[in-house]
Amino acid sequence: MSKSPLRVRARGILLSAATALAVGAAFAQTSAVDEIAKYRSALQEGNPAELWEARGEGLWKTPRGPNKVTFEKCDLGLGPGVVKGAYAQLPRYFADADRVMDLETRLVWCMVKLQGFTEADAKKNPFGGPNRKSDIEALVAFITSESRGVKMNVAGTHPKEDEAYRIGEKMFFFRGGPHDFACATCHAEDSKRIRLQDLPNLVKQAGAQKAYTTWPAYRVSQGELRSFQWRLYDCFRQQRFPELEFTSDASIALTMFLAKNANGAAFDAPAIKR
Ligand code: HEC
Repeated sequence: MSKSPLRVRARGILLSAATALAVGAAFAQTSAVDEIAKYRSALQEGNPAELWEARGEGLWKTPRGPNKVTFEKCDLGLGPGVVKGAYAQLPRYFADADRVMDLETRLVWCMVKLQGFTEADAKKNPFGGPNRKSDIEALVAFITSESRGVKMNVAGTHPKEDEAYRIGEKMFFFRGGPHDFACATCHAEDSKRIRLQDLPNLVKQAGAQKAYTTWPAYRVSQGELRSFQWRLYDCFRQQRFPELEFTSDASIALTMFLAKNANGAAFDAPAIKR
């Protein structure tokens, strides 16, 4: 894949999306949301997420860390090195770690156990910003892209998987913080909106399916690819909760709750979002 045409295309996408948002704002909310949806589908063919996917595939195959080994012995649940379809079954229980893990947590595990990084080093750059790229987000883009079209099939049968699901469900409805918000405050009604943003009803199967299967996503407004860990981190912030720790049990439990509720739907990411 040659990189420069994609880069140019990405810049065009940013401009046209900015125009779309500006034009959209002039209309009533419904038509603005329709406009964004139209642009989104027009842009889907040239999703800049492909840049992250390509970088992630390179990282997967490159010997890294003090041990200079690739991720090709990393078991994402379907056997060492198997990437195809793995994301559609995560989070899951891993006997070697005796813990339920989502994708990001498993990648950190492999970086520590196989590649010899310290845990602090493996976790130090979870989300990209204007001046730095996140290897984890690139790896997540590549691995999730290998589940595109695969039906979500999170088991939840191991006692620890079941426990994570139940904790995630509790957290979803738990109210707290200065505004007494729960996830459910913003995400348990149909057609709820904050400004121009549709808030999915995540307690209904269709809502959970649509939301979960379209992350990670390239955020046009941020020029970044964002993982599901980031999505939860940012909603914790919107909820005025304490900072959600990357790969914490809390983040995995919430992911388990939403991923399992999305079972049966075909995974369709990395997507592109506003
Ligand atoms: C104060 C309101 C608010 C609270 C509370 C909140 N969110 Fe959100 N959430 C949003 C908004 C706004 C968006 C859409 C953001 C955007 O499009 O930029 C969103 C988006 C999402 C999405 C992605 C939906 C999609 O279709 O792309 C998920 C998943 C999600 N939230 C989960 C949660 C979880 C889990 C919690 C509880 C920890 C939570 N949210 C708490 C406002 C909230």
